[in-house]
Amino acid sequence: MKTDLLRFVSLEELSLAAAERVIEYANQAIKERGVFNVALAGGSTPRGLYDVLSSSGYQSKTDWSCWRIYFGDERLVPLTDSRSNYAMAKEHLLDNVPISGEHIYMPPVHLLDARNVAMKYERTIKGNFGNASSIPRLDLILLGLGSDGHTASLFPDMPALEVTDRLVTYSSPGVLPPPVERVTFTLPFINAARHILFLASGEDKPEAFKAAYYGTPLGLVKRVPASMVNPKDGDIRWLVTAELTT
Ligand code: 6PG
Repeated sequence: MKTDLLRFVSLEELSLAAAERVIEYANQAIKERGVFNVALAGGSTPRGLYDVLSSSGYQSKTDWSCWRIYFGDERLVPLTDSRSNYAMAKEHLLDNVPISGEHIYMPPVHLLDARNVAMKYERTIKGNFGNASSIPRLDLILLGLGSDGHTASLFPDMPALEVTDRLVTYSSPGVLPPPVERVTFTLPFINAARHILFLASGEDKPEAFKAAYYGTPLGLVKRVPASMVNPKDGDIRWLVTAELTT
């Protein structure tokens, strides 16, 4: 597994660089397999990336009809709720690029029960990959980093981190807001990806970044989820703003 680390002076520069890489991954996948399977990240850091991809200069950089959109995690709130990762992606990307709604695969959060949502979402994903027995390989999974070392909705020392026989599982709220139930990709599904792009920024992130990237301790956390992302046949790129590494 190859890991690159790129530092940027601003979130704006990070977002521009991230957009270039996403397009690279997309066009490589489309060339090789005719489709680009990508999982979006939630939170606030990816907004800038999504805005860049939505800009006029990017409309003709890729064949959007080949994109297939997934969500690495989602909060169990209505899709119109401001805490919804889908709602953020819809505003900053999906409403602004020509991706058909039938190519956007969201967890069925309306089902409310987290176990059921996770199971149904997993069934959708498996169905899209021919219900093969092997773990589906997404071309790209975008991930963020929480100050507690979480990524997607895999929170430190929580049961979801131990799930190895599923693609999608459910998670109780972590210590960071919003305190809502979630569904999340599992580590085995994340680690099956061809490419991982971590986008991390924020004054509260340096310790979490060091723990994730260098394996240093993070308070009393026994297992730092972001440090466990380790795709066996894929690569990881970290795009961070400079305050994380000073
Ligand atoms: C979520 C996100 C989460 C996010 C991190 C970083 O649903 O909460 O997927 O994993 O990526 O919390 O969030 P920021 O980008 O807002 O710092």
